[in-house]
Amino acid sequence: MTYSVEWRGDHVRLLDQRLLPYDEHYLELTSSNQVADAIRNMTVRGAPAIGVAAAYGVVLAALKAAPDRRVDASRDAIAALGRTRPTAVNLFAALDRMRRVLDSARSAERLVESLAQTAVSIHQEEIDASASISRLGASLIPEKATVLTHCNAGTIATAAHGTALGVIVEAHRQGKLERAITTETRPLLQGARLTAWELVRAGVPTTLITDSMVGHLMRTTRIDCVLVGADRIAANGDVANKIGTYTIAVLARTHHVPFYVAAPGSSVDLSLRSGSEIEIEQRDSTEVATFAGRPVAADGVDFWNPAFDVTPRRLITAIVTERGILMAPSKNGLRMIVGCPGERRK
Ligand code: MRU
Repeated sequence: MTYSVEWRGDHVRLLDQRLLPYDEHYLELTSSNQVADAIRNMTVRGAPAIGVAAAYGVVLAALKAAPDRRVDASRDAIAALGRTRPTAVNLFAALDRMRRVLDSARSAERLVESLAQTAVSIHQEEIDASASISRLGASLIPEKATVLTHCNAGTIATAAHGTALGVIVEAHRQGKLERAITTETRPLLQGARLTAWELVRAGVPTTLITDSMVGHLMRTTRIDCVLVGADRIAANGDVANKIGTYTIAVLARTHHVPFYVAAPGSSVDLSLRSGSEIEIEQRDSTEVATFAGRPVAADGVDFWNPAFDVTPRRLITAIVTERGILMAPSKNGLRMIVGCPGERRK
């Protein structure tokens, strides 16, 4: 298995996801600023992986600071890491947990150790969650299934196993999957570059389509279900995920295709009543203005580049979490998933 984030005691090792599938290159980061840059520029991406990387970024800030500066340096790092990407709530959930360690810290000597322990726990919980999601979600996949996915919710977007992609790979392992179909996922091509790479390496028969082919695909081909990940799930069950997810959900409803979201409890934000309160990240126009690094648009045109959209819960057949499958997502169901009445917040 390829790990996108690894803690090495005094540095964090990140797979540079920008270079895939051509180059499997790892970066060794020794400062929280480097981790913040890596999240912003999408060296590391995918909601759970961002949260884990950020937690280690806080550890690095404490590790590098003089003992009397450790608490302040860690708080500064939490603030800076929290400004990197706004939509995936896993980032803020991880930073909240690191902040709580600082709030209860008694001695500077033990601070680094306590922060590292919490970061490792966050990491391990994400690994366990995705393993469980993969197993549970596979029960939804019928025999000889053809499954459509969007963006990349695989091993490299999480801490291991993957969420939506973990389900697909597990269904393949169980001999139930005939084929996976992945969209290319414009503008950054997470589907073409990352999902296709992961699925082919896992031996899953995979077809790549452009995002605009989904309607024709559903009209002309049997698709047994759609499986996607999530960046933030509001209390009412609305889901923010990669731009284009909503379009696929509308098409899935029109064509009577079950639409499943697979995500860990760390992606649930009970502080937001509905998806309309989720902040949608706007990214640089160069991502739309170029393809594979080359300009594709006429000079003078304007751009719009929201990185995510919101799928309303009425279009979602079920949310697969590590604690169970939530059919027709509701606030009470999500509370059970998060495990306590506490609120997640940005
Ligand atoms: O902009 P990205 O590549 O970080 O967006 C990733 C997604 O939208 C994923 O579907 C989501 O984070 C779930 S990853 C398990």
